[in-house]
Amino acid sequence: MTSGIKNICCIGAGYVGGPTMSVLADKCPEIQVNVVDLNVARIKAWNSRDLSKLPIFEPGLKEIVERCRGENLHFTDEVEKKISDADMIFISVNTPTKTSGVGAGKASDLKWVEACAREVAKFAKGHTIVVEKSTLPVRTAEVIKKILEASASSVAETKNASFDVLSNPEFLAEGTAIKDLEDPDRVLIGGENEKAIEKLSDIYQRWVPEEKILKTNIWSSELAKLTSNAFLAQRISSINSISALCEATGADIREVSRAIGTDTRIGSKFLTSGPGFGGSCFKKDILNLVYLSNHFGLPEVANFWEEVVNLNKWHQNRISKLIVKKLFGTVSGKKIAILGFAFKADTNDTRESAAISICKDLLEEGALLKINDPKVSPEQISQDLSQKILTDKINKVKNPINQTNECCYFFSDINKAIDGTDAVVILTEWEIYSKINWSEVCKTMRKPSWIFDTRSSISDETLRTIKKYDLNIWRIGDGSVK
Ligand code: UDX
Ligand code: ADP
Repeated sequence: MTSGIKNICCIGAGYVGGPTMSVLADKCPEIQVNVVDLNVARIKAWNSRDLSKLPIFEPGLKEIVERCRGENLHFTDEVEKKISDADMIFISVNTPTKTSGVGAGKASDLKWVEACAREVAKFAKGHTIVVEKSTLPVRTAEVIKKILEASASSVAETKNASFDVLSNPEFLAEGTAIKDLEDPDRVLIGGENEKAIEKLSDIYQRWVPEEKILKTNIWSSELAKLTSNAFLAQRISSINSISALCEATGADIREVSRAIGTDTRIGSKFLTSGPGFGGSCFKKDILNLVYLSNHFGLPEVANFWEEVVNLNKWHQNRISKLIVKKLFGTVSGKKIAILGFAFKADTNDTRESAAISICKDLLEEGALLKINDPKVSPEQISQDLSQKILTDKINKVKNPINQTNECCYFFSDINKAIDGTDAVVILTEWEIYSKINWSEVCKTMRKPSWIFDTRSSISDETLRTIKKYDLNIWRIGDGSVK
């Protein structure tokens, strides 16, 4: 199978562009894949000799980068040159929610996508297929197309440029990105030009069975991506809403999830109650749907989806409030260990992590936080919380807490993070947290000690034994522990 594509450029070396292009390069050794980014530090990190310093942590990624980098996979800041060399260009830049102007707080800010389209228009040569990879609001392809066409007609005679635009949304989830890319449920390609669609489809067919490659019109493809994330997020808000009811009634959310998940019409995935969904996509994509629905005069549809986000916000706040309530109504001056800061396990990404809002609430109440995460850096946590953070490594002292007035500390050692605290709050489902020896650890805590487990990291069996120690436990959606 040959697509005729020899040279690919991906603009944006982030969580989507980096892993996606690594897998593509691995599967298509005859295609040269160049990943470009304006962020020189990020490119430098992608080119690190020490593979533990890649800018993104994903299981299986570093092995692929080791195999392909310098062969047919290249990370560079030579944006102009790589665009002009390419016969297919993926746009994989960030599209955060607008913070000001029309649609602020809901619509996506497309300034980076627009800037990309203008760069492509300026530097591309010959016929180029432009593929939207970033999650974008419906009808963005039209914007890209207009920019490219306007440019093509003005300079076509000098550089012979022409374009096709395709939508090829990414469905990878962080932490399982490599698996999702190597064995996707489906690949979606939306577009108007059949020849261009076939070329992209041929690339995927090197490793994806043809029946899993769905071809649609461009608007369906864009809307399917938003809808897919909205449905997943809706399931999480649904189960989280029921977890509050479980706690009130004595039911157990794990049992309820299992019971409803065995109905094949419902299915068992995405029914794990947690501290609320995070990540760069769910909230942004739902708010995009809300904006679009209002824009098209469908306020009932907009309100329906907005409730998914509202429930998530309420749920996170509910957890902070109950921590304060259980600790005798005040956490002022109390030390609280935060286990996990990433928005989920197996990633170093903290975007929209529930940990951010819960930690901010606790800091607001005057708590002293001792934070641990196996992959998130203290610098990132400091940025997310807008707080100075002291680390056990930097200070090279056993327990810096007694020596300063700061309220945020990072400990790379779990036991040190827990030492001397009134409460432990588990916010990310890292496997190591399910292996903590609570019978030992609790001896170092101040009494009465609390564990708040928002991730069901503590199994039923451990819970039974823990109850024998001098420990109070709250577990998400568990009506049996009060
Ligand atoms: C999501 C989509 O899954 C993916 O298809 C899309 O391309 C990008 O957005 P991602 O944000 O990486 O992927 O992670 P995901 O596994 O979907 O988790 C999102 C959030 O929901 C996390 O905070 C996670 O902890 C939470 N979650 C997930 C739950 O609370 N319960 C669940 O059962 C599943
Ligand atoms: P995602 O999760 O969608 O991959 P990220 O924020 O991780 O988002 O990555 C997007 C990347 O796109 C960033 O590294 C950013 O520097 C890069 N980027 C944004 N605009 C441009 C541009 N015009 N040219 C090159 N790179 C860009």
